[in-house]
Amino acid sequence: EKGTYPHFMLKEIDEQPPVIRRIIQEYQDDHDNIKLDPEVRQAMRDTDRVYIIAAGTSYHAGLVGKQFMEKLANVPVEVHIASEFSYNMPLLSEKPLFVFISQSGETADSRSVLVRIKELGHPALTITNVPGSTLSREANYTLHLHAGPEIAVASTKAYTAQIAVLAILAVDTAKAKGLDLDFDPLQELGIVASVMESLTDQKDEFEMLAKELFAETRNAFFIGRGMDYYVVQEAALKLKEISYIQAEGFAGGELKHGTIALIEDGTPVIAINTQANVNLSIRGNVQEVAARGAKTCVVSLEGLEKDTDSFVVPQVHELLTPLVSVVPMQLLAYYAALHRDCDVDKPRNLAKSVTVE
Ligand code: F6R
Repeated sequence: EKGTYPHFMLKEIDEQPPVIRRIIQEYQDDHDNIKLDPEVRQAMRDTDRVYIIAAGTSYHAGLVGKQFMEKLANVPVEVHIASEFSYNMPLLSEKPLFVFISQSGETADSRSVLVRIKELGHPALTITNVPGSTLSREANYTLHLHAGPEIAVASTKAYTAQIAVLAILAVDTAKAKGLDLDFDPLQELGIVASVMESLTDQKDEFEMLAKELFAETRNAFFIGRGMDYYVVQEAALKLKEISYIQAEGFAGGELKHGTIALIEDGTPVIAINTQANVNLSIRGNVQEVAARGAKTCVVSLEGLEKDTDSFVVPQVHELLTPLVSVVPMQLLAYYAALHRDCDVDKPRNLAKSVTVE
């Protein structure tokens, strides 16, 4: 039930801090260590390459998950859009492990890949919000997101739950392989939950920003580099699916290779800036579009901010920034849709679970 909320989407955005806290609880043992199905642990140890298969928002979570697994656990990862995989199957490694990420667990595109790889005899792990779902039943192993039912068509709390579980899985794998890490994901996720709360407490700010940026526009661009590039792809998807504004997320450095031609007077360009190593380059990109008339908005991580930035997100561990930088993007999309009188929870032409290929 929506309770006092006008829309499920807003309620689900607000549920993100408690969901992260529930994940911490569910994946923690009595000694504050990670608690995980030993079979999943073994499968992650045994594989020489993980193939993440997903669609839409879950695919965007997979892109972040790849960074965790490669940077923390030294496991090579490929991330594939489910609908492309079957027809365009890459050469597989010797011991592949397939990881299906799906809120609903019912996405037909992902299921057809699962059927195919089972025929080939490869193991599969499903990360889902619905444990009894098709993708969960048909895979060898399941990790549960514990996000509670997600009703709004636009996915919000499932995305952050997926990223949190992927971080825990990556660290667990690193530990199982005997790698030395000074990163405690459970503790860091606790900080993330508090920061998320401080963001959802500032809705008025995002409502104002959304009005400034999106009231009249027909299109909008999101830019970022590194981790932020994955989040801007999700930001653009959120905005387009509920507000019908044509939106794209680009790698900052790619702008000059074509997209910058689209910038006109007043085109909104939103930059996410949470990664110290690309701070200067992304700021350069913002200047380039501003010089061509773009209406710019920079969302920075604390420590990288400048006075002219539109919003500063309090600090979290730099690997976990997508969990917090996405919240302003979800709220911007929500208010853009609200003020354009769109049906926020049930956007046209879309269904919550896509059970056709
Ligand atoms: C976007 C959205 C879709 C889903 C996609 C995959 O907000 O909801 O892009 O993420 O259809 O769905 P699941 O995760 O259920 O497989």
